[in-house]
Amino acid sequence: MNETMTTLLNRRCVRAFRAEQITDEELNAVLEAGKYAPSGANQQSALFIVVQDRDTRETLSRMNRAVNGGDSDPYYGAPTVVLVLADTTKVTPVEDASLALGNMFNAAHALGLGSCWVHRERQMFESDEARRCFASGAWRVTTSAWEPAFLATPTANARWRPRARTASS
Ligand SMILES: Cc1cc2nc3c(=O)[nH]c(=O)nc-3n(C[C@H](O)[C@H](O)[C@H](O)COP(=O)(O)O)c2cc1C
Repeated sequence: MNETMTTLLNRRCVRAFRAEQITDEELNAVLEAGKYAPSGANQQSALFIVVQDRDTRETLSRMNRAVNGGDSDPYYGAPTVVLVLADTTKVTPVEDASLALGNMFNAAHALGLGSCWVHRERQMFESDEARRCFASGAWRVTTSAWEPAFLATPTANARWRPRARTASS
């Protein structure tokens, strides 16, 4: 089968990760794939924030848990979290960010990395604590539509099994 088709049909969400960090080369390749996603009117509204610092990652995890109500790490122990935001002054911010995420998931899989969409970031960043994060230092952003993703090296027990799809034309 064509290599791209193989990637598209075999990518699955991974929810168990090794603790070791991915390489900068892997990270940059995945981000590059996200940058090349289509966007409404080619406005390229998506913005990526990479979090690898342990304390910041733990803060994100805690804030996400506060929305969800659970007590396990919503990022499944992945050592890299990529927040994907989009500039809401552009024409199609949420669509742009979602397509960027799709590109990144498929690129991660093609490179042998696991990834998964983790939701609830929009509610999470409505909290005062999260707004303070974004208002400080390197995290200063003025956009307000965001959806998150994360990626990391999959653990040995990561699921890679292709599964039948219910949606069909
Ligand atoms: C909008 C959206 C939100 C999602 N939110 C989460 C989430 O919060 N946590 C999670 O583990 N997976 C999340 N997922 C992943 C889906 O559960 C997953 O894509 C779906 O079950 C199909 O599985 P597959 O991606 O392995 O084919 C989300 C996916 C999408 C598209």
